[in-house]
Amino acid sequence: MVNRFAGPGTRMIFQDVKGGEKPGFLSPEEAKQVRRFHGTMEGYRPTPLGRLPALAERLGVGDIFVKDESCRFGLNAFKALGGVYAVARLLGRLLGLPPEELDFSSLKSQRVKKKIGDLTLITATDGNHGRAVAWAAEQLGQQAVVYLPRGSAEIRVRAIRETGARAYVTEVNYDETVLLALKRAREEGWHMVQDTAWEGYTDIPCWIMQGYMTMASEALDQMAEAGVSRPTHLFLQAGVGAMAGAVLGYLVHRFPGQVPVTALVEPTRAACFLESAAAGDGRARDVGGDLKTSMAGLSCGVPNPLAWPILRDHCRAFAACDDFVTARGMRILGNPLGNDPRAVSGESGAVGLGLLSLLREREELAPAAAELGLDGNSRVLLFSTEGDTDPENYRRIVWDGQEPSPD
Ligand SMILES: Cc1ncc(COP(=O)(O)O)c(C=O)c1O
Repeated sequence: MVNRFAGPGTRMIFQDVKGGEKPGFLSPEEAKQVRRFHGTMEGYRPTPLGRLPALAERLGVGDIFVKDESCRFGLNAFKALGGVYAVARLLGRLLGLPPEELDFSSLKSQRVKKKIGDLTLITATDGNHGRAVAWAAEQLGQQAVVYLPRGSAEIRVRAIRETGARAYVTEVNYDETVLLALKRAREEGWHMVQDTAWEGYTDIPCWIMQGYMTMASEALDQMAEAGVSRPTHLFLQAGVGAMAGAVLGYLVHRFPGQVPVTALVEPTRAACFLESAAAGDGRARDVGGDLKTSMAGLSCGVPNPLAWPILRDHCRAFAACDDFVTARGMRILGNPLGNDPRAVSGESGAVGLGLLSLLREREELAPAAAELGLDGNSRVLLFSTEGDTDPENYRRIVWDGQEPSPD
């Protein structure tokens, strides 16, 4: 059964949650192991989990928690959690080391470099993932080549080049850029480190998703420290869905029978998960075209096949949002009420909060909020997955009011 709602710049569909299989690769045991690895990285520390009681009161929910990933390893986005873990597992495989023995500082050593020799890592990216892979390569004394889709912000290209990586902006969208990078990887014998999977290419994307579990596991610990045993609601934004799939898959293990009510949020023109769920036959659908949106990290039209079954079976709602929705979320997080903590949240980080605010403040969306069961007892968890990775655009939105909310 699929119910549909629409409000200003927003489309939502609701489905009965099927539940079912727990994804074995996202178990708490795996998460513990991954977090142990991240703990071996210099500069690792949990990012802050902001609690926003004043906003919660205004929006008529019990609690709002926002994980602020702008502080992650000084890279301004959560992505390194996955990219670095995947690169470490790749090196571990080349060295014959089991995951439990991986230690970032020893992987950085001259001894390891000598043993492995010269590697080139290649990836396609909106920016954040490529920066993470390029950063990992730099730390490990290896080379990286990064392809970015057409229209990528110059500052994101520069941030990648600053690590010593080669970065190229293509003439095509994200999904076609992935194919170009893959072709180059095959021609050159380079290692593709991609955050999405396809037939015959699942190990690295699986490790990337496992890497993202650290963010979710930190958030649950921090909520527990704040006296909240579990979130009742999750808003997760999706590009290829690896982040959302990893977080939700892990929570399915942590809260059997009490999985939070989850809304998956995508840009209107790149809503491949919404389209897949709407088709209702269990199969994933691609969307093509220019995928144009200010949410560069979410501008992906092909669902990650490792993430799709998790999201299909455990999400309650799928939402497609115009760019003003994330702009609203960015403004709210940047201008907190009362003593709520401030977060600098970039275009791909704030759409969940923007949607939550509309659900509670726009009459047209009240039935959708009711369908989600949002009320004064709801404890909502969101992930602000990036800071101002495009600082000029951040200011155009937050200072100059670009992408205003419609009446
Ligand atoms: C800041 C940010 N948030 C969210 C995402 C979405 O992650 P995924 O592509 O795994 O859905 C991305 C992807 O690049 C991103 O850069």
